Amino acid sequence: MNATPQARIAGSTANGKINLYLGAGALRDDGYHELATVFQAVGIEERIRATTAADWGVDVVGERATATVPLDHTNLALMAGRLLHRETGRGGPTRFVIDKNVPVAAGMGGGSADAAAALVAYAGLWDLPLDRTDLLTFAARLGADVPFAVQGGTAIGVGRGDELAPVLTRQTFHWVLAFSDLELSTPDVYRRMDELRAERGAPALDPPRVPGELLQALAHGRPEDLAAQLHNDLAEAAIDLAPRLADVLAAGREAGTLAGIVSGSGPTLAFLVADARQAMEVAILLSATPGVAGVARTTSPHPGARPAVG
Ligand code: C5P
Repeated sequence: MNATPQARIAGSTANGKINLYLGAGALRDDGYHELATVFQAVGIEERIRATTAADWGVDVVGERATATVPLDHTNLALMAGRLLHRETGRGGPTRFVIDKNVPVAAGMGGGSADAAAALVAYAGLWDLPLDRTDLLTFAARLGADVPFAVQGGTAIGVGRGDELAPVLTRQTFHWVLAFSDLELSTPDVYRRMDELRAERGAPALDPPRVPGELLQALAHGRPEDLAAQLHNDLAEAAIDLAPRLADVLAAGREAGTLAGIVSGSGPTLAFLVADARQAMEVAILLSATPGVAGVARTTSPHPGARPAVG
């Protein structure tokens, strides 16, 4: 006998991100670093289908599904559904199927996008009357990058990265992403950054701050200006843990990209290019580069978590 004869379905989508700027201050007492970052959502989407079910559950399918995504109570989509259930008292056991297109443990906020999409899907499935502000509050309890995955677009993030201020941009930027066959753990990369700073006796700039020149470059929309402002305090630590990234960055420079950066805590590299045509050329060159497990051409910015259409 089927315990849920009239199972209902709700779908949602949330995008991966890159950090155009990531300034990390000192380690705080709560285990997080004080950040000044600029997030931008890219056009690579996690899709979630939520169905009413007899028990809570999650499955991961799709192009970039890996066995390293947990399927137990630590899965971020499941945590998102359970959080909404506990806090609103509405809804009930839900099964989530994640169609994974953002690579796992790659510095692109794939897990955070899953959490954001699951909040939207659960709210839709059980008709919860939540607005964006409610979703952002729940999102912050699931992880530092989850509020941005809900909000999307371009935003400055301070605090843990979860206190957001939207940034207006007028231009679509073109990127080539180079994926790695390695996974890097975000806490490991932050730890290595602290070790490297301690070794050279160079304490963090505290508090970090987003340079005005970067915001001007975003306002004017010229990719050459943005290229000069891209920066990531985690890059050195990520390259230290995965030295081949330096060769791939060099290959991107030789291929004529405007700039290359480590995305978040890596190991994905994001190369800013002038236009869609250059993206095509660079993608071909990088896909033949040792240490590159796959490439994707994409654009930014893109919207935040939203119900699926159709
Ligand atoms: O919040 P989330 O679970 O995504 O963060 C993963 C880890 O990344 C944290 O436990 C912490 O080690 C590190 N982190 C940090 N400072 C931040 C964000 C993340 O040290 N602002």
